[in-house]
Amino acid sequence: MTTARERALIAQIRHDWPAPSPEAVATSLQLVERIKAAMAEGGGMIGFDRYMDMALYAPGLGYYSAGATRFGAAGDFVTAPLVSSLFSRTLARQCGECLAALQAPVVLELGAGSGDMAADILTELAALGQLPERYLILEVSAALREQQRETLARKAPQLADRVQWLDRLPAEPVEGVLLANEVLDALPVQRFRLDGDSVRELTVTLDGERFAWAERDAPEPLRRAVETVLAALEEPLPAGYVSEYCSRLAPWLASLADVLACGVMLFIDYGYPRAEYYHPQRGMGTLMCHYRHRAHGDPLILPGLQDITAFVDFTAVADAGVAAGLEVLGFTSQAQFLLAAGLLELLQEMPVEPGSPEGLALAQQVKTLTLPGEMGERLKVLALGRGYDGPLTGFSLSDQRARL
Ligand SMILES: C[S@@+](CC[C@H](N)C(=O)[O-])C[C@H]1O[C@@H](n2cnc3c(N)ncnc32)[C@H](O)[C@@H]1O
Repeated sequence: MTTARERALIAQIRHDWPAPSPEAVATSLQLVERIKAAMAEGGGMIGFDRYMDMALYAPGLGYYSAGATRFGAAGDFVTAPLVSSLFSRTLARQCGECLAALQAPVVLELGAGSGDMAADILTELAALGQLPERYLILEVSAALREQQRETLARKAPQLADRVQWLDRLPAEPVEGVLLANEVLDALPVQRFRLDGDSVRELTVTLDGERFAWAERDAPEPLRRAVETVLAALEEPLPAGYVSEYCSRLAPWLASLADVLACGVMLFIDYGYPRAEYYHPQRGMGTLMCHYRHRAHGDPLILPGLQDITAFVDFTAVADAGVAAGLEVLGFTSQAQFLLAAGLLELLQEMPVEPGSPEGLALAQQVKTLTLPGEMGERLKVLALGRGYDGPLTGFSLSDQRARL
């Protein structure tokens, strides 16, 4: 016998989507109760940033914290490290170049997902003779930390002892390379709507058994932040325009800057420079959700059972970096970065016959990573740094900092 609440949740599944397991439904319903309690405390509504935070990270219940498979064919979406190890190996070449220019460097990876990128980067760095003493992983999800341990033990057992998991950023500043692949797009964002001269905050409330959008006057910090964005744009935005703003970005980046004594940060993510992010035609915002390889734009359904992301305003990331004392060292598309950093050379070195099934599979992986309609242009790479004057070959084909 299903309850009314279970039926209401299951009714959110579109007809051609796979149904969640009974355990997943039970976890989601517990999360719904927790979100409802937060709403009750907040006078019947909560900001979308709070909702996104709980839906993704509520301990034991959120999308990234509940322990279910999220990445790869059996999960909900695929990131570049799971498309092909060529992605991580090419990134490792850029890391190796940076590590070689530093005195006693470490690698610090944020949000390591399945752990495949860490395993493949370490393997490539070993082949290049550029292994760092320590490969640090800061992961907010205990469940993912376990998955990362298993992946490293399986794929790179001889290197796994170099990996240390951190609960928080290192207490002492480090020298090295900080990596974050698809982490910025997982930071909770606020949502707003322009209404004449005023800025409204889009919030989340309850409508029967379902979550629904509501709105209120934007709190002062959000209103000021949106007005600053608007003042920097060349074209005015139309009334009714909806978008996102990540108020957590600047403090988060400042905390990262504090722990980088010397070195480079590489952020790889879906996003645009500000003028494209807040483009008059992008009037519905940039939220993107993934459930079992179905991409859609409704973050209020299936709480805890789907990924929720917002595209990244890379101008905001660069500005936050500069405000935190970092330099902007490069900005380009993923395709241009990978091609400059040696993707095709690595492909040619692979011991496979061109035209063989393995060769065709690799060619397809390279296309997915680099074609404009796939990951090539939609993902960007931004390098920030402190005290680094070594080379950054990944930006040698195309450096688009002027677009930021
Ligand atoms: C979309 S997944 C990307 C995972 C992996 N980097 C990849 O490319 O497959 C987002 C990751 O960011 C992590 N994350 C989110 N907020 C974080 C934060 N503040 N610090 C570190 N990791 C974070 C999540 O737990 C998750 O592992």
